[in-house]
Amino acid sequence: MKKELLYEGKAKQVYKTENPKEYVVYYKDDATAFNGVKKDTIMEKGMINNSISSILFELLAKEGISSHFIKKLSDREMLVKAVEIVPLEVIVRNISAGSMSKRLGIEEGIVFSEPIFELCYKNDDLGDPLINDDHAVAIGLATREEIKAIKEQTLKINEVMKAFFEKAGLRLVDFKLEFGRYDGEVILSDEISPDTCRLWDMSTNEKMDKDRFRRDLGDVIESYKKVLERIEDK
Ligand code: C5P
Repeated sequence: MKKELLYEGKAKQVYKTENPKEYVVYYKDDATAFNGVKKDTIMEKGMINNSISSILFELLAKEGISSHFIKKLSDREMLVKAVEIVPLEVIVRNISAGSMSKRLGIEEGIVFSEPIFELCYKNDDLGDPLINDDHAVAIGLATREEIKAIKEQTLKINEVMKAFFEKAGLRLVDFKLEFGRYDGEVILSDEISPDTCRLWDMSTNEKMDKDRFRRDLGDVIESYKKVLERIEDK
């Protein structure tokens, strides 16, 4: 099924297949933070994130949000549509945390009355700078129409995921999405996992996501496994 390696990122590899319209995504155990400055291997992370992403893409499909996901192939692999990634990191924030708290000098944990929609230019050399939709259009990252479609889908994804994680006793603090072009449309792509979402335990506010790695809190894989256990069969 897998043919030549097309792309290798920090946490995943993308392979071509015999079908030019399909790729295989392979989830690695590698973890990086702070734009690659902090690096480690977290045993089993690839398997857990492949499972969590698959569950979330299936959930979203049931709610009418299509994505690049076709099916889970194995522990570490999923078959996806061969999209062309839009070089934007699309971030939604429901609760203050991370770079927004730092940039604006606000404490973590403030619950916003409306979700905050952010765009970053996906460019490692520049450190993924925060931009707005005018910048994205001006420098040719996406068209106005694409950004409108991305925003609409993203806000719907937020509602579906917030409710789903709540049932699992988890607060969806913020997350990052990527979109890809396929058959003239922009569809949800990449992954959705504790590497790309902040998830806090509803009763204790314990962090159950990549901040455990970023901030050396310990029990990284144990927390990822707990997230998977809590969302399985939900
Ligand atoms: O670091 P920051 O607060 O901007 O991150 C917001 C959200 O986006 C977090 O859930 C984080 O895990 C995710 N993110 C990501 N990949 C990046 C930057 C942020 O998945 N390169």
